[in-house]
Amino acid sequence: MGSEVSAVILRDDCSALDESDALGPLRAEFRLNQGEIYLDGNSLGPVTESASRRVNEVIDTEWAHGLVRSWNSAGWMAEPTRLGDRLAPLIGAQPGEVLVADTLTFLLAKLIGGSLDLRPDRHIVLTDVANFHSDIYIVEAMAARAGRAMTVKAIDRSTLDQELNDDVALVMLTHVDYRTGEMLDMKAITEKVHAVGSLMLWDFAHSAGAVPLDVTGGDADFAAGCGYKYLNGGPGSPAFIYVRERWQGILQNPLPGWLGHARPFDFELKYEAAKGMQAFVTSSPSMIALAALDGALDVWDFVTMDQVRAKSLALTDLFIDLIEDRLPGVFEVVTPREHAKRGSQVALRHGEGYGIVQALIERGVIGDFRAPDICRFGFTPLYLRYVDVFDAVERIVEVMNSEMYRDPRFAVRNAVT
Ligand SMILES: Cc1ncc(COP(=O)(O)O)c(C=O)c1O
Repeated sequence: MGSEVSAVILRDDCSALDESDALGPLRAEFRLNQGEIYLDGNSLGPVTESASRRVNEVIDTEWAHGLVRSWNSAGWMAEPTRLGDRLAPLIGAQPGEVLVADTLTFLLAKLIGGSLDLRPDRHIVLTDVANFHSDIYIVEAMAARAGRAMTVKAIDRSTLDQELNDDVALVMLTHVDYRTGEMLDMKAITEKVHAVGSLMLWDFAHSAGAVPLDVTGGDADFAAGCGYKYLNGGPGSPAFIYVRERWQGILQNPLPGWLGHARPFDFELKYEAAKGMQAFVTSSPSMIALAALDGALDVWDFVTMDQVRAKSLALTDLFIDLIEDRLPGVFEVVTPREHAKRGSQVALRHGEGYGIVQALIERGVIGDFRAPDICRFGFTPLYLRYVDVFDAVERIVEVMNSEMYRDPRFAVRNAVT
């Protein structure tokens, strides 16, 4: 659906698209509130029936009856690598290259800390000044503990070519910008980084489950991403870490713990890393949280990332077209129009963004706000319908035309925006 036809988009057109949508039946798998339009699956995905079922199974059967035996009998110890293998196809990785554990910032710490040791004669780390603040905190902290003087340069990513040289040990970028939704060219950037002998670490927080990824074809060295956004693993869900096969056994886990040891139950005092991705486990797997993610991953057995991508682009095109038609000049559409540069969210800039998002939440359109002025809307094709996009825009039009967002009650800042 392109902008040339947008002036005539009707709700009936959207209903017709829903009727022929192959992903339509998957919506029944998600628990969504009646009357609400959830455009925040890029922050916290909703509960799936499978996630709920699997969590209950772990609690009521494996934990309640199996008790401590379940570490063996229910395969709990193998869960981080088993789930890694389950998730691998979603990022284009091979079996044995992905592990599910910890949360994202911790996994970034492991990858950054380990990779700096692989380039001991280099002293620069490049990252993006627009990167998520947690990524910048952790890269600075790990660089400060590298055992040699390191400089972290948070650059404007458009200047990457000029900044790359043979002093650069590591480049760490977020593949889809959390504010603007701009998607970077993983393959082209990784190639440039490798050309100067540096290592490439990708943050897939806003990419996994949102856009097709090909770490194998893109030649990424390392990557990590969240479980709680487009993968619907639940609040604080374990994250995932990717270490390309060529680095396994070479990249060291800078936060070693007993369960990453080759023989944890020999209780040896000298650390010896386990083989493969198990080396990146530090401590006990969080079984209930892993169960939620395990259940949430079931939905991906019924869908391909290409199907998800096609619908994601159609939904975001529809949203942008409707916003531009119905509210010309009211918002700046920050997210790129160009498909190759768009993730699965749309960012609208407005000086009253916080109040607008709060007023929309009250009207049942759940998005979020990213300071200083971005209204952020995530589009998850697994459960969103075309009519949801149409209805969401109708409510945005009401909020803007009535100026209800100016009400002082919408100016009160919550801790989470
Ligand atoms: C791009 C990016 N990196 C890192 C994080 C931090 O994730 P966690 O809370 O799992 O450490 C987030 C969280 O939203 C994020 O969006």
